[in-house]
Amino acid sequence: TKKMILDLDTGVDDALALAYAVADPNVDLIGIISSYGNTLVETAAQNSLNLLHLLGADDVPVFIGARHSSTTNQFEVMPISQMIHGKNGVGDVILEQSPRAVEKQSAVDFLIEAAHQYQENLIFIPTGPLTNLAAAIKKDSKVATLIGNTTLMGGALTVPGNVTPFTEANIHQDPEAADFAFTHQKNLTMVGLDVTLRTLLTKKETADWRLLNTKAGKVFADLMDFYIDAYDHLNINKNGAALHDPLAVAVGIDPSYVTTLPLAMHVTYNQENGDYGRTIGDKERLLEPTTSKVAVLVDAKRFVNDFQNLMLSVLK
Ligand code: BDR
Ligand code: CA
Repeated sequence: TKKMILDLDTGVDDALALAYAVADPNVDLIGIISSYGNTLVETAAQNSLNLLHLLGADDVPVFIGARHSSTTNQFEVMPISQMIHGKNGVGDVILEQSPRAVEKQSAVDFLIEAAHQYQENLIFIPTGPLTNLAAAIKKDSKVATLIGNTTLMGGALTVPGNVTPFTEANIHQDPEAADFAFTHQKNLTMVGLDVTLRTLLTKKETADWRLLNTKAGKVFADLMDFYIDAYDHLNINKNGAALHDPLAVAVGIDPSYVTTLPLAMHVTYNQENGDYGRTIGDKERLLEPTTSKVAVLVDAKRFVNDFQNLMLSVLK
């Protein structure tokens, strides 16, 4: 089985990505690295530890990564993130404390070590800002070619962004790091808003999690219902909330969920331009062969159905 590392800013849909990776028998989750984004990095790491504990996966190590973007020296959670993910990142649901602490090794060093150890058998899934990945490549350039498969949630190629008309939230946090990752990392697949906004979960599915009558079923239903309510109140979507981050995990394991375009991408980060943080085809590399792909279509029905079945199995 392939090895998987998640890079989470744990967040509600990041929590679903974590549960999906724990549940899928086709992959071996070997670690979670943490990022700022939906919450502060310390909160993200603690949420990951607590969620792993809830799911009986206390053997998966959690590492602290970037505290802020590569171009600033501090980070404040955006009010909109708190409205969508709650003040604590997990829909203001109080999780039982994990008995474990975060690892002493840094997120970047863990990723570099795993890239060398597992190479083409490693699947790396960033579902937050790309600050950790860029830092790892800068520290050890071999990371860019060693990791077999990097499938990220972020960006928007054919649809509007969710922070600005051009920019998706994960890219918006650190466009320079995102540009560095997009232009250096090989075998990169972008799972952007183009596809994730078509994969929706409703209270009908979370009601079935509740019916399991387990602690995990109730906790996940509570945090997901908070997120579904936020999508409703904020008028993002009235018919359910997007499964952004779990779709990246699913595509990392089984690329046939999506249709992709082979396209070398870059990210614009000129502050003066109105398209700050835009993910777009890289003119410089247009004529070169590329290992980069962008998802443009998704078999949403099959994905949501498989997602629900895996959730029902792991929440039992
Ligand atoms: C992405 O931004 C974060 O808020 C979500 O967790 C997801 O990774 C969606 O734009
Ligand atoms: Ca996320």
